[in-house]
Amino acid sequence: MDERSLLKQKAALKAVEFVESGMVLGLGTGSTVRYALEAIGERVREGSLKGIVGIPSSKDTEKKSQDLGIPLTSFQEHTTIDLTIDGADEVDPDLNLIKGGGGALLREKVIAQASRRNIIIVDEGKLSPCLGTLFQVPVEVIPFAWALEAAYIERLGARVNLRKAPDGKVYETDQGNVILDCRFGPIKEPEKLALDLCKRAGIVEHGLFLGLASDVIVAGKDGIRHLKRER
Ligand code: A5P
Repeated sequence: MDERSLLKQKAALKAVEFVESGMVLGLGTGSTVRYALEAIGERVREGSLKGIVGIPSSKDTEKKSQDLGIPLTSFQEHTTIDLTIDGADEVDPDLNLIKGGGGALLREKVIAQASRRNIIIVDEGKLSPCLGTLFQVPVEVIPFAWALEAAYIERLGARVNLRKAPDGKVYETDQGNVILDCRFGPIKEPEKLALDLCKRAGIVEHGLFLGLASDVIVAGKDGIRHLKRER
């Protein structure tokens, strides 16, 4: 395993220590979360975690969870999640996030807003002084309107790219929408940008996760740090 993957795994294993029997879990998406899913699945199989159920944030996580023997549920059965474990693409000093590099931002945000506790797991390379410094903001839009929304977001100051899948075709989300990757550079007023994106018909959701993380577990060369949002 390469060094970054090792850090991702360490952060994931730390987060799984907070999972208790009987919990309803939110299951994030991505390469870091994968290690958390593996650890949860192992604890379920060995019997040290009993009665947990998970709500997956993507078809990919749903499939992985099923393969690992993690019991799944839905919002029809549970409207509150005890604990969510998810990754992020960028984390600022206030624990605000950019998410959606894996394309699952819409379900991830629905899960985050339904969660009592939302633990984000990252390697230290994702810490940044200001959102937008390291990563573009993914914005999910309906296919009908993508060019119109791209022009709108360019007027807000970003360079915008329609996301493509590895096969070169336009990337499609689990909801059948498309993603605009919007490079703003450092975002001085993320709340204002979030409002500008939210108010626009055709934009379904954006990857700015402001005030949603309760904890961030950061794995670095010098060990693990557990950052908590001040309430
Ligand atoms: C999925 O849509 C994203 O929000 C991921 O949580 C984020 O991209 C982190 O992914 P990795 O853990 O693969 O870096």
